[in-house]
Amino acid sequence: MAIERTFSIIKPDATRRNLTGKINAKLEDAGLRIVAQKRIQMTRENAETFYAVHKERPFFGELVDFMISGPVVVQVLEGENAVLKNREVMGATNPADADEGTIRKEFAESIEANSVHGSDSQENAAIEIAYFFSGADIVG
Ligand code: CMP
Repeated sequence: MAIERTFSIIKPDATRRNLTGKINAKLEDAGLRIVAQKRIQMTRENAETFYAVHKERPFFGELVDFMISGPVVVQVLEGENAVLKNREVMGATNPADADEGTIRKEFAESIEANSVHGSDSQENAAIEIAYFFSGADIVG
């Protein structure tokens, strides 16, 4: 199986509750390696650009407001089948639908304040990683 990279965000609801370490432990326990990580305050422009694919959705404005409501931790995760593995450990978008043991089941507050983001494909992972990191920032 191929070693892949995926992009992850620990969202403001989780940084606010000091859950960065607990979430990182879940990622590492799932076999993912954090090969780049930084804590940042997203600008409105960052969030609007990052979530541009959702700009016609009714929740877009609230999503952008939420993503800039506090610091986030942006990460590159590496491992076998990393995109799918990260989506499994995150759990369903809506925590009400997330499986036991997943990050969102354990920590998410709502469908919006759902603690983490993870890329949905290798193609989007490459785009999302490049938006926040340069090659030299990533140490595998
Ligand atoms: P994420 O994986 O970061 O991708 C888009 C985000 O939009 C998603 O997680 C949720 O936080 C948010 N989202 C998706 N559906 C809704 C919804 N119905 N209402 C509010 N936010 C949503």
